Amino acid sequence: MENEPLIQHSYDGIQEFDNPLPGWWKWMFVGSIVYSMFYALFFHIGAPGRSMTDQYDAALAANTRLQFSEIGDLQPTADNILLYSSALAKGRKSWLSVGQTLYKTNCVSCHGLDGIGKVGPNLTDDYFKNVHKVEDIARVITQGAGNGAMPAWGTRLLPNEIVLVSAYVASLRGTEHEGGKPPEGSEIPPWPEPSASAADTPAEKEAEAGQPDAAKEG
Ligand code: HEC
Repeated sequence: MENEPLIQHSYDGIQEFDNPLPGWWKWMFVGSIVYSMFYALFFHIGAPGRSMTDQYDAALAANTRLQFSEIGDLQPTADNILLYSSALAKGRKSWLSVGQTLYKTNCVSCHGLDGIGKVGPNLTDDYFKNVHKVEDIARVITQGAGNGAMPAWGTRLLPNEIVLVSAYVASLRGTEHEGGKPPEGSEIPPWPEPSASAADTPAEKEAEAGQPDAAKEG
């Protein structure tokens, strides 16, 4: 160490060795800056679809399409909502848990765990403000309600996701929970039974009839 060159200044008696960074290190540093410019140009400023987030979104959309190809494009009808909400729908239980996951991700903040109500109304009782028939659930979710107090999900969820989360909401009715929000709105008649023809229709038939590639846009 004693032979190493010193820089010719001292601050309060503290001196500095003249040790430049090794060349290879410096050039790696410069190289990474140059590389980052091409990287940013190609992946972030270049054609859309190249960035990691774009690729992730595309992969996710493809996966959702694949997943939903089994049930096709569900229309938000009373039959579909009731079918996917009922235990009667054998093999559809797993689709109800998809609805539950959607609910947990998007709705719990306002409607509470298990739908007991928070900012939004309690979804477990027989009283509703905007819902008179079971298909109104899907309409409210798609379009929103209460001047935006209930956000519109039509552009944020896929049509199938709206049906499945509606099915989950329909299934919450009549479940008992402690500490739920008091009823709001007026009492409505019980959900009807899904029509026999709908219950007979295997999901595959719907898949054949529908186009399973209506993916989320954008
Ligand atoms: C930002 C808070 C908020 C979020 C998030 C939210 N809601 Fe709501 N929701 C409300 C409010 C507030 C109302 C009552 C609107 C009114 O007063 O008419 C409502 C009403 C509803 C209704 C009709 C209830 C009735 O009594 O008529 C349903 C069904 C519903 N929401 C389902 C959902 C679902 C499903 C989600 C998730 C995809 C969701 N909400 C997310 C706040 C929210």
